Amino acid sequence: MGAREVGLPDVVPGGSLPSQVTIWEVGARDGLQNESVVVPVSVKLEFLARLASAGLSVLEATSFVHPKWVPQLADAAELLAGLSRAPGVVYPVLVPNERGLDRALEAGVTHIAIFASATETFASRNLNRTLDSQFEMFEPTVARALAAGLDVRGYVSMCFGDPWEGAVDPAQVVRVGERLLEMGCSQLSLGDTIGVATPGQVEALLGGFGDVSRLAVHFHDTYGQALSNTLAALRCGVTTVDSSAGGLGGCPYAESATGNLATEDLVWMLDGLGVETGVDLDRLVETSAWMAEQLGRPSPSRVVRALTK
Ligand code: HMG
Ligand code: MG
Repeated sequence: MGAREVGLPDVVPGGSLPSQVTIWEVGARDGLQNESVVVPVSVKLEFLARLASAGLSVLEATSFVHPKWVPQLADAAELLAGLSRAPGVVYPVLVPNERGLDRALEAGVTHIAIFASATETFASRNLNRTLDSQFEMFEPTVARALAAGLDVRGYVSMCFGDPWEGAVDPAQVVRVGERLLEMGCSQLSLGDTIGVATPGQVEALLGGFGDVSRLAVHFHDTYGQALSNTLAALRCGVTTVDSSAGGLGGCPYAESATGNLATEDLVWMLDGLGVETGVDLDRLVETSAWMAEQLGRPSPSRVVRALTK
């Protein structure tokens, strides 16, 4: 039985919260990039259509990365060719370099995201570049994307901890993030790729940036801290939160990365706090239950499990 059924009062904790939050749904990209099976493109398309009908307005759809690096998303061009875009919904894609940009432009995308690393080791493992040389790859990519009229988001990965290097200095994250903003990224998403952060660290990192108006947060839920970290970020003024339907997700180049914050867990909390998301929780839960059937295993989301009993 959920709080809705037992009529628990909504108690707004201290600290100011935004009245509205944009959910950047990454299930079709971050979620499916880490599945051991390659999900058929028809299932991916139905997943995206169901997510749109649940009221999500930003659906990160796929990645134009090297198909050998992420075979699960090698069908990116086919996916975009088959996509029927819902009105009012944007479908960003990940693009690491100019080759990826060429493919994304051919597919008619309007929004891309580049993805940088805050650490040397992850830059090498995820991008085959050094920390410095990743920018040489991004600079011409972003310049061309902006000239073509695209919106460009920047991700920074390993913002709190790195499986090879341990704790990450917030000043290092700020340096990488500011370079992406200077390049022309409209938004910066701060990734806790391996899900180790706790709320005090989130506040400290956001404080290091000063202006949070262009910041989003991207928490993986490995240690069960993603929702607490999100609440801390919202109290610092962040209004865009990345999450993945059903808690799918991970990064194939960081084994300790598990699923993202589940969108259902996020919506449950925001509904309770009276923060608008535009998402219909029941429809979303139905979608994740359907996806769990396609993948042949239950959703890790607590809310999905509670509402599908
Ligand atoms: P590389 O091997 O250094 O590539 O990989 P290269 O530039 O040396 O090129 C080698 C060959 O690959 C060339 O072909 C290129 O054309 C081709 P050849 O001339 O030898 O025939 N190539 C491509 N083909 C198709 N699409 C492309 C592409 N690029 C080059 N885009 C590269 C460098 C960046 C491409 C590679 O390392 C890569 O694809 N990495 C992606 C890894 C990835 O997708 N990781 C998961 C996403 S990040 C994430 O999940 C974290 C996030 O969620 C936030 C968080 O949680 O923190 C965003
Ligand atoms: Mg991620």
